[in-house]
Parts: sequence; C-alpha cells; structure tokens
Amino acid sequence: MDYNRITPEILFEITAVVGNENVLTQRSEMENYSHDETEDLHFYPEVVVKPATPEQVSVLLKLCNQHLIPVTPRGAGTGLSGGALPVKGGVLLAMERFNRIIEIDEQSLQATVEPGVITEVFMNAVAQKGLLYPVDPASKGSCFIGGNVSHGSGGPRVVKYGTIREYILNLQVVLTNGDIIWTGANTLKYASGYNLTQLMIGSEGTLGVVTKIVTKLIPAPTQDVLMLASFPDNNAACAAVSAIFRAGVVPSALEFMERRGVEWVIAHDGIVFDLKDDAGAFLLIEVDGTNQEQIFAECEKINVVLEEFGCKDVLFADSSAQKEELWRMRRVMGISVKSNSVYKEEDTVVPRAELPRLIKGIKETGARYGFESVCYGHAGDGNLHVNIIKGGMSDEDWNTKLKDGIREIFELTVSLGGTLSGEHGIGLVQKEFMPIKYSETHFSLMRSIKAVFDPKGILNPGKIF
Ligand code: MLT
Ligand code: ZN
Repeated sequence: MDYNRITPEILFEITAVVGNENVLTQRSEMENYSHDETEDLHFYPEVVVKPATPEQVSVLLKLCNQHLIPVTPRGAGTGLSGGALPVKGGVLLAMERFNRIIEIDEQSLQATVEPGVITEVFMNAVAQKGLLYPVDPASKGSCFIGGNVSHGSGGPRVVKYGTIREYILNLQVVLTNGDIIWTGANTLKYASGYNLTQLMIGSEGTLGVVTKIVTKLIPAPTQDVLMLASFPDNNAACAAVSAIFRAGVVPSALEFMERRGVEWVIAHDGIVFDLKDDAGAFLLIEVDGTNQEQIFAECEKINVVLEEFGCKDVLFADSSAQKEELWRMRRVMGISVKSNSVYKEEDTVVPRAELPRLIKGIKETGARYGFESVCYGHAGDGNLHVNIIKGGMSDEDWNTKLKDGIREIFELTVSLGGTLSGEHGIGLVQKEFMPIKYSETHFSLMRSIKAVFDPKGILNPGKIF
C-alpha cells in the first residue's frame, strides 16, 4: 500500500486540532517515540501528535483517512513485539495526555479511565478503596492501561484472576471515519450481538483508537502468603505446576524462574539472594484470600506437591519487604536480560501440563543452534517467556540461523496445543511466524475484519498479519 506523506497543509490542519505544543516534528524530539522495548528497533514517524480528547482523535483520524496517512497509536512504549512502531511513517498518535481516572464507582465496582493512565497508578487508586484491579504486567509501573487493552495483557495474577479480557466491560473507540462509539455496555453480562469490546481487546491498535475504558473491579483479598520453592531442575519445577492445581489449589500467582534468570538478576540488578548450588529452578507461589486458615490449608496442600516433585527448599517471605524483594527478582528478570545483552524474546504459551515438554524442547533447540536462553514466566497459566541471548553466537548465525531455531520453538509450542504469544502480542516481530499456527482461512477472516473497521488500512499498518 502506498501511503501519502504529510504535506505542510495537512500539518497545519493537524496543528490546528491539538495546538502547536502537542505536535513534534524534529527528529531529536521524536527519538523517544521511535522505539518501544522490542529489541533494538527504531522507526521514525513524520510527526508525533498528542491529542487529549476523543473529539480531537476523531478529527485527526478523519483527516488521515481522507489523505491516506498512516496512524500508529502508542501508549507508554513498553511493548515487546514492536506494536507501537510507526513502520510506515505518518502520524504517531501518542495517547499520554489521556491520563485521567474519570470515576471509581464503588456501588457497581467499576471504573472509567482514560488509556494513558499508568497501570500501577490505577491499581493504587483502586486499592485505596479496598478494591482490586488485578491485571499487573511486569511493567505495571510504566505501562499504560490502554496499551494493556491493545495487547490483551496478563501478568502474574492471571492464573487466578484472568487476563485483562475478564476486566474490560466497555470501550469508547474512535473509528477511522471519525465516528466515536461505545463497543458494549457497562454490564457483567453481554449477550447482545457480536462482542465488539472483546474484538477490540488485543487488536493492537489496528481497528480503532481506544479513548475510554470501563473496567470491572473486585473486592481486594486481605491476606497472602508468598513462597519461593527451589527444585533440582527445570523439569521438576515445571511438572509441579499442573500438580498444584490437581491438588485442588488455585494460587494467585505461580511463576517459574530458571536458575540462569536468577543468576542474571543477581549479577546485573543488585538483587541479594543466597543462590544454593543445588537450585536448578524456582517456583514463586502466592496464595491469597480473606481467610487465614484457608490460606494456610492451601499452602499445606502445595507443600505436599512440592515435596513430591523433589523441592529442596521453600522460603516463606516473612515480611512485606521480603515479599517485595522476591517479586522484584521476578519482575526485573526481563529488563535485566534486555539491558545487558543482545536478545530476542518469545512469549510462548501452552496448556500448563505441557510446560515440561516445552522447556525441554527449547533447551534442546538452543543446544542444536548454539544459543543460550533465559526462561521465566507465568507458569500457572502456561505462559513461558523465552529470552534468547546472543552470548557466544556469531553475528552471522544470529542474523541468519536464529530464525530457524525460533521457528522450531514455535512449531513445538503449537504442536503442544499452544500459540505464539500469551500476552506480548504479535506486532511487528512475530508476524512472520503467524503461519505456523494460522491458516489462510484465518488470515482471510482477519483481513476481512480489518477491512470493515479500517477500509483504507491507515491504522497501525504492517502489524499482526
Ligand atoms: C514479564 O513477565 O516479565 C513480562 O512479560 C516482561 C518480559 O518478559 O520481559
Ligand atoms: Zn510476562
């Protein structure tokens, strides 16, 4: 598709909508907007535009649609699949001024927020009312809730509370023709035609621009126990995961970390942790609720399972500071790898009982292709992040052969009943692997949906398929 460039006349019209101070055109000012957290990729837009109201977005989309100018919506730029990269230039629609928590409704347990609110800021505001919004990706301190909607985000608590899909009731969306719609209703049930809200979630900014979000909230648990269990190897830790559920417990978090990941954060992030020689892999397990006796009973059941799978040592966090430190160890693992090595991250997800086979296959593939990987993730929901690090791999192998290794990992993932991404999205960097999982029939359906919402293809072009 050949898009048009932004002429001085169009730029004048854009500036008239949002004001001079909300339009960036200098390369130096646009640096921050030319990348996200995906590898070392940079794409510059022609212009960064920062609207603040749905009406402004509406005028901008109409204008760009009319002149065939690509528009790439962007949240906080914490994405891991290149979804917010303006690969075709044009307008980068920075949503950072949409930063208001409009309402927390304590009667219906709902909130209305704008997409540029930082996820943790929202979680804290809700927590002050004794409520919980549990969708907390590792980047919760910097990501925007709008980006979470676009990617169908998850995080550690999905295993008990579900992904963002379970918490979004309704979305205000601006369409490419300038129409402003609400996708559904502010209700817990919805049986009124196609569910446009769910279609919009995870659509990675390719169908419309989200300008308001209505979320469900739940009463906050009052207590939790956090434990770190160490196992002799990856297989034992991963095999214990599904056994915990079979024992009748649904933990509020069940995270896997391989030894290499813990070594990495100790070396690079100032994490103080007594890493024993016989610890090959870890499960970070949280159980929460409102009844202490019940939580202790669940921990007992978990302990029995841990022992069955050869767990050597269980560390119970005995203070909130220690809990925070253990969570920090897990949360910084991704950043640790990314800021200290050339890397490529995959976001595999399989039915949880298949985790042992998945991680074994990943390591075997790595051995065959000569790459090292640091694996960690939300094992309770079968989501394993695979950070492939360049290590001793030659530049040539990294640039040519690595792709085949990644392809093998995805083929294995799919053969185990899984898919390419559990929570990071497809964006730019995973789209070449989509045919491993999806057929021409799927692509034809997806293209048709795209064409209904965005007939001229101006919204976030070059992504997903
Ligand atoms: C995580 O769970 O740490 C996040 O998804 C980010 C990452 O994998 O880097
Ligand atoms: Zn994650």
